[in-house]
Amino acid sequence: MFEKITVVGAGHVGATQALRLAEMQIAREVVLVDIIDGIPQGKALDLYESGPIMGFDTRVTGATDYGKTVGSDLVIITAGIPRKPGMSRDDLLSTNAGIVRSVAGEVKKSSPNAIVIVVSNPLDVMTYVAKEATGFAPNRVFGMAGVLDTARFRTFIAERLNVSVEDIQALVLGGHGDTMVPLVSYTTVSGIPLKQFLGQDEIDALIDRTRKGGAEIVAYLKEGSAYYAPSAAVAQMAEAIALDKKRILPCAAWMEGQYGISNTYLGVPCKLGRDGVEEIIEVELTADEKAALEKSAEHVRSTVEQLKKLG
Ligand code: APR
Repeated sequence: MFEKITVVGAGHVGATQALRLAEMQIAREVVLVDIIDGIPQGKALDLYESGPIMGFDTRVTGATDYGKTVGSDLVIITAGIPRKPGMSRDDLLSTNAGIVRSVAGEVKKSSPNAIVIVVSNPLDVMTYVAKEATGFAPNRVFGMAGVLDTARFRTFIAERLNVSVEDIQALVLGGHGDTMVPLVSYTTVSGIPLKQFLGQDEIDALIDRTRKGGAEIVAYLKEGSAYYAPSAAVAQMAEAIALDKKRILPCAAWMEGQYGISNTYLGVPCKLGRDGVEEIIEVELTADEKAALEKSAEHVRSTVEQLKKLG
């Protein structure tokens, strides 16, 4: 169990995040931070008052500065603007980079030993920005994307096959965007390969829906992007870390030669425990999957370059 988890950004993702963490009771205290005075305090108090009903003792507080966050074990960065219909995650680049850079600078000062999970988009690039701004070791700075992308894939498979989502195991790697790489060979229904249930065309359709899963929701919401599933994904990662569970979950991790890829964040299976990303697991890939992962890495790298040019 952690003493303190801070969630930066008290919008749709951040507030839902704080709710999930409070209910899971994996930290004694959850602090919600936002720049809009009143929002984090009000949402935190409302959430805290649900404790007697929902049966949690997690202390939930809100603030516009980082005083209350001092010494956090885990900081989750959700600050930033979400997409609107027709926008790609990359369209958020310079605005969210400025926000994430300033937030990460505050985290460095207030919680120098924290583990940082980034949620703001474009995810892989924002995670890089957070690593640079904190100067923390890469095992302590990583992003949430793979758990969400995998959950979407699992949902669509379960729905198509009319079986429990609990029995679908899947792995989606790569960047959080159109270049994500669902690994069909590692996708099973209670251990039985997906290919024994569905033909390639049907699998391709599910993959396509997974790739566009975020945009499908943006098209409905119009004024924002997904937050229930993203916050659930982060909660699962936070639990693995707080309880030192050593779970294998796909995260946007800093690559240092794994899969032949270096110097970029990319979604890969990671062992998550008290030290954050304790290991990157290298699985066998087909030539096509390897090429798709390379392409995904290249896209993340070029977006980082684009950001550097913007200054
Ligand atoms: N510090 C703290 N909070 C900030 C800052 C900052 N520097 N800048 C903006 N915020 C806050 C906003 O005031 C707002 O309350 O971040 C919050 C963002 O909330 P929403 O607009 O509801 O966006 P949300 O749907 O939560 O998405 C946040 O997560 O999934 C990603 O793409 C999404 O980048 C987006 C982020």
